Amino acid sequence: MIKNDNSINEFLNQVNNKVRLSDFIGQFVDLTEKGNSFVGKCPFHNENTPSFNVSNDKSLFHCFGCKVGGNILNFISKYKNLQFKEAVRYISNYSGIPFIFDEKRIKTNAEEKLLFELLNHTNHFFNQQLKQNSFAYKYIKSRGVSDEAISTFEIGFSPDHNLLVNYLESKGFNLDHIKKTDLLIKNKQNDFFGRFSNRVTFPIYNFSNNIVGFGGRSIKNSKIKYINSQENIVFKKSQILYGLKQNLAHIREEKEVYLVEGYMDLIKLYCSDIKNVVSSLGTTLSEVQLQRMWNYSDIPYVCFDGDSAGINATKIISEKVLKFLVPGKSLKFIQIPDNNDPDSFIQENKKDDFLNLKITSKDLSTLVWDNIQDSIEINTPEFLAIIDEKINDMISKIKHPKVSKEYLRFLRSKKDNFIWEKNRIKTSKSNKTNVEVFIENINEKIFLLMIISEKDYVSEFQEEIFQVKLLDNTLEELKNKILKNLSDQQLIYSWSVNDFKDTNPKLFNEINELERVHIKGLKEGEKKLFFKQILNNLRLPFLVDERKIIQKEIIESSDNVISENLLKRYNKLSNEIKNIRNKDLE
Ligand code: UTP
Ligand code: MN
Repeated sequence: MIKNDNSINEFLNQVNNKVRLSDFIGQFVDLTEKGNSFVGKCPFHNENTPSFNVSNDKSLFHCFGCKVGGNILNFISKYKNLQFKEAVRYISNYSGIPFIFDEKRIKTNAEEKLLFELLNHTNHFFNQQLKQNSFAYKYIKSRGVSDEAISTFEIGFSPDHNLLVNYLESKGFNLDHIKKTDLLIKNKQNDFFGRFSNRVTFPIYNFSNNIVGFGGRSIKNSKIKYINSQENIVFKKSQILYGLKQNLAHIREEKEVYLVEGYMDLIKLYCSDIKNVVSSLGTTLSEVQLQRMWNYSDIPYVCFDGDSAGINATKIISEKVLKFLVPGKSLKFIQIPDNNDPDSFIQENKKDDFLNLKITSKDLSTLVWDNIQDSIEINTPEFLAIIDEKINDMISKIKHPKVSKEYLRFLRSKKDNFIWEKNRIKTSKSNKTNVEVFIENINEKIFLLMIISEKDYVSEFQEEIFQVKLLDNTLEELKNKILKNLSDQQLIYSWSVNDFKDTNPKLFNEINELERVHIKGLKEGEKKLFFKQILNNLRLPFLVDERKIIQKEIIESSDNVISENLLKRYNKLSNEIKNIRNKDLE
C-alpha cells in the first residue's frame, strides 16, 4: 500500500524526532506526568483508574487495561477511525513533515476518489433540493425530525434524474461516468432513471468518513420503502455503520452504544437526545461491524424492532456472534415492547423510558439459553437429549476456549434448573395458587427469603448453603452479605425481609409474593422439606460440575490409589445427584 516500509519508517522517525507524543495525544486525552511517562484514562475502553500510558522516550503508547498500544499513526487511526493512508496524511499535516504516496497506489485509487467526489456533489445537490421541495420537507418534518437533525444527518431529496445529471455535469463530471454509477438505473427500454428519484435521501459514510452511498425513503406509498446503494468498489454494506460519523463523539462519551435497524430509528433517537447509536441498516450484523462496536463498548446493546422479524433477527445474531466472543466482550439485547421499533417507541415515550429498557435487557448467554429452551417440546421423552444436543451445538460455535467453557457451565446449570422447575411444577401440590406474575429466578429468591426468615436452617445446612452460588449477580451479592453478617455475629443476624423495602422494592414485592404463594400455610416439617428441595436444586449444577471434573481426573489419572479415592468421591456425588433428582420426580 505504501511505497515501501523504509519510507514509512523514515517518515515515522522524522515525526518522532519532531513531535512529543504526549503533546499530540494530550489533545485528545487528559494526561498527567508520572515518572518517565504520562498516564490518563484510556480512550479505547471504559475505565475508572488510568491505565493508559504514553512514553515520549519510546514514542509509543500502551494501555495496560485493554492492551491497545502502538505509535502515533496507530493512535490516530484508531482514535479517529482513519485508514492507514489517512492517518499518515493526518500526521503529515500535523507535523509538517511531507509524505509522498506511491504513484501506482494513487492511480488505482483515482477511481475511488472520483466516485467519492461525485457522491459528495450528489449529496450536496440532494440537500439543496430538500429545501426546494416542500412536500419532501414536510414529509420528513412530519416524521418528527428536527431541522438540526436534518442538517446533521444531511437529509436530502432526490428529484428527477435529469436535474441531478445537469448538476453533476455543471461540476465537471462526464455523462458516461455518471451513467456508470448506481445513481442511475437503466430500464428495459434502455432509458435511464434515478435510483433515488422522488425519495428522501440519507448519505451513508464509511469508517473513513467518506460518503459511499445513499439510502432513499419513499415519501409516497411506494411498495419499496427503502432503496439503498448497490454494492460497489466503495459501498460495502457490511463495512459501514450508519450514524457512526455523526454520533461518534457521543458514543465515546457514553462508552455505550445501541445498535438499531433503521435510518429513522437512529435519527429519531438522536432527536430525543439519545445519540450513542449506530445502525446496521437492516438486521444483519457482520464481523467488521461487531468489532467496530466493540472498539467503543465492551457490551453494545442490540435494539432491533419489537416485531417478530426483529425478534427473529436478534436470535440469528445471538448465534452468529458466538464465534467472535472473547473474554469481556459481549452483547445485550433490548426488546422493545408492543411491536414498536425505536422510532415509534420514542415517539410515544420519553428518553428515560428508552434508557430504562436497558434494565430488562437480556445478556447474550441468557438469550442463547432462552432460544434453546423455546425450541424444545418439553413433553417429548427425548427432550433431555435434545437440550444437550442444542447446548453442544451452541458451544461448538464459540472459538475462545475460556468463553466456551463458561458457556458450557452456564447452559448446563440452566438446564438442570429447568428440568427441576418443570418437575416441580408438574408435581407441585400448590398448583391451584396461580402464579400469574412472572418472577425470574424463583428458586434463588425463595432461597434468600428462607435464609433470612428461617435462621435455624442456616446453621443446620451451613455446609450445603455455602456450596451454593446464585446465578443472578444481585441475588448472589445479597446472599453473601447475609451470610457474612451471619458469620460475623455468630448466628445472630439482623436481616429481615423489610430491609429490601427501600433498597430493592421490586425484590421486596417479589419475595412477599413468593412467601404468600409458596411458604404461607406450610407446616414446620413441610417447610423444612421445601427448603431442602430448593437448596438441593441450587446445589445440583455445582455437584454435576464437580462430578464432571472428577470424572476427567479419573480418566487422566494413572495412579491407582488416587483414582480409587476419586472413584469413591465420584460415586458419592453420583448418589447424591441421583437422590436429588429422584426426589424431584417423586
Ligand atoms: P424497517 O422496515 O423497519 O424500516 O427497516 P423503518 O426504519 O421502520 O422505516 P420507516 O420508519 O418506515 O421509515 C429497517 C431498515 O432496513 C432497511 C433500511 O435501512 C431500514 O431503515 N430496509 C428496509 C431496506 O433497506 N429496504 C427496505 O425495503 C426496508
Ligand atoms: Mn423499523
